[in-house]
Amino acid sequence: MNIASIQDILVRRQTAFGIGVMVGFLMVGCVSELTLVPDPTDQTDGADGTDGTEPGDSTDPTFLADPTAKFDPLSRPESPTLSPENFNSAKDCAGCHPTYVAEWENSMHAYATVDPVWRVLVDIRKAEFDGAQDQMCVQCHTAIGTRGGEVVPGFSWDDLSEISLEGVTCEACHKVSGMRRIYNSGHELDETGPLRGTIEDPVANSYHESEYSELFGQAKFCGGCHDIIDMARGLQLERPYEEFLASPAAKEGRNCQTCHMPTYTGKAAIIDGVPERTLHRHRFIGAEVALDESFTSDPEVRAMLREEVDNLLRTAAEITVEAAESVQAGQQLDLLVTVRNLIDAHNLPTGSTFLRQCWVAITVTDAEGNILYQTGHLDEDGDLRNYWSSADQFGDADLIEFGSRFIDETGNPTLFPWLAAEHISSALSPLYERTFTLFVPTTPDTVGPITIDAAVRFRPLPPFLLRALGAGALVENLVITNMDEATRTVEVTP
Ligand code: HEC
Ligand code: HEC
Ligand code: HEC
Ligand code: HEC
Ligand code: HEC
Repeated sequence: MNIASIQDILVRRQTAFGIGVMVGFLMVGCVSELTLVPDPTDQTDGADGTDGTEPGDSTDPTFLADPTAKFDPLSRPESPTLSPENFNSAKDCAGCHPTYVAEWENSMHAYATVDPVWRVLVDIRKAEFDGAQDQMCVQCHTAIGTRGGEVVPGFSWDDLSEISLEGVTCEACHKVSGMRRIYNSGHELDETGPLRGTIEDPVANSYHESEYSELFGQAKFCGGCHDIIDMARGLQLERPYEEFLASPAAKEGRNCQTCHMPTYTGKAAIIDGVPERTLHRHRFIGAEVALDESFTSDPEVRAMLREEVDNLLRTAAEITVEAAESVQAGQQLDLLVTVRNLIDAHNLPTGSTFLRQCWVAITVTDAEGNILYQTGHLDEDGDLRNYWSSADQFGDADLIEFGSRFIDETGNPTLFPWLAAEHISSALSPLYERTFTLFVPTTPDTVGPITIDAAVRFRPLPPFLLRALGAGALVENLVITNMDEATRTVEVTP
């Protein structure tokens, strides 16, 4: 890990305030353009009437009493509230549930505590808060380790047991017995209880008790970890569940599982007497494949996951370009570019929007191949030409990005939520579209027809960030996906 190089970036970008000064600001109060807690009166229900925020679900007075508290009785306890030895490894499930284990072990859930990008960021935050926030970033990535006394102020990675290193492992989910709030690791864990799921009449087995729980078929089960509020600043970091509550998908009774755990027919366990049922995929396909190749080293599995991620990403967005049929040589050509979020369940992008890159790339060429106009093209380091570009800062005045950014007290962008006063989002709401006008110059010599190639592109992490985190070796594993493309030609008249 490389705090020095990160500080380089911060110092380079923020001349007015050093890091020490910024940390001094942290306790002063929460300046956020978003509200601190979900509206407890928001009872928006899914069509089945069970998926909404019920009273008590998302507000926890104890928890909110002191937002800067070092500990939280549920998810960041001062002393252990469970024993990691009571949780079984995914390896123990393979004998009867081989398909689940094979799917899960290459998922981002299994990657959650070995993810090198996450680890560097956690180390930086630990250093910034000098021990006061060490559990914050680990409480969801391994609830077992954080509640089990392994992740305490001053912990080291060597303190994590095998089960904690499995991250969001089978029993981190299947021992969930209830929810106290729908954010910040809001689940209750029943360490010696049965394994719960949505099979109503599970066949008995010699290894574990089974129990039906409707919670596993609901979006709020996912929201308990996927919605994140940074209590140190009161900033809403990630709110896919909140976005979902107001979405068309929620009104139609669909949920996160519909798209991220698609169904198939099969046997849940390979032992006698188990019937065929409608089951759920456990690959948890989202926006990326683990960047660290050693995590999923089988090239066939990587290629399969890559294809599934790309296929999902291609369902997410639509780009259209409108322009006149012809332009007079030497005149300006106006382009109307519209990007629409086709996901009816959450924003595009969602989740870690401050890390993700989702942008519009357009190249306009004349008949001789001369480039008349470009936006969304990369600089020599592979970065977008925005604030963070070293090679060509602000070199792309028209750059259209969907995502979010943190702004500090001085009004400058910052990479870290704990230095931020505001979290500003330009993500597209479910099924919303936004139109931009771009101007393409031509010259009296421009030879038609003109070709406009447009795409809306996605990349999970920016190269500059990986390099700054000392993880530059991962840059070559980054993949850019064209979520949608559009082409148009325009004639040139003399
Ligand atoms: C409330 C639970 C929760 C907390 C608290 C949390 N995370 Fe996460 N983290 C998640 C979830 C869920 C995702 C997946 C979101 C996505 O992919 O969009 C994630 C994804 C990430 C990723 C992206 C990994 C990758 O390879 O792309 C990083 C990095 C990360 N978290 C770092 C942190 C840091 C740093 C903190 C502390 C400031 C933190 N997390 C606190 C739940 C949490
Ligand atoms: C000895 C075989 C065996 C082992 C080992 C085993 N299971 Fe199961 N499990 C079963 C059977 C059989 C069912 C019922 C399947 C059915 O009825 O379709 C089941 C059902 C489940 C269910 C669904 C419960 C419900 O009602 O929806 C979950 C969740 C589950 N197992 C998780 C696990 C996990 C996690 C592990 C490893 C820690 C594990 N199992 C180990 C045999 C086993
Ligand atoms: C116990 C906490 C927890 C629960 C419950 C949970 N997740 Fe996650 N999820 C995470 C974390 C942490 C990550 C990110 C791991 C990383 O990248 O380091 C993640 C990552 C993901 C990703 C991958 C995102 C990407 O960038 O590709 C998807 C998809 C996902 N989760 C879907 C779900 C769904 C659907 C549910 C509900 C059925 C769910 N999760 C429940 C913690 C959780
Ligand atoms: C209609 C299908 C659909 C439903 C329902 C859905 N998603 Fe997604 N999700 C997608 C698509 C498509 C993407 C890829 C585009 C993106 O990253 O936003 C995605 C991406 C994600 C990511 C990765 C985002 C990133 O860029 O890091 C997370 C995390 C996620 N979804 C969580 C959820 C959660 C939590 C729910 C339920 C509250 C949910 N999704 C419901 C379709 C869906
Ligand atoms: C992120 C949370 C999460 C993790 C991790 C997870 N599961 Fe599940 N699992 C679910 C949810 C949610 C369902 C129910 C989905 C639904 O009904 O919509 C489910 C369903 C099941 C079922 C019931 C049959 C089915 O397919 O619906 C079994 C069996 C099961 N999981 C076993 C496992 C095993 C074994 C592991 C580890 C290898 C595992 N799960 C990891 C969330 C998880």
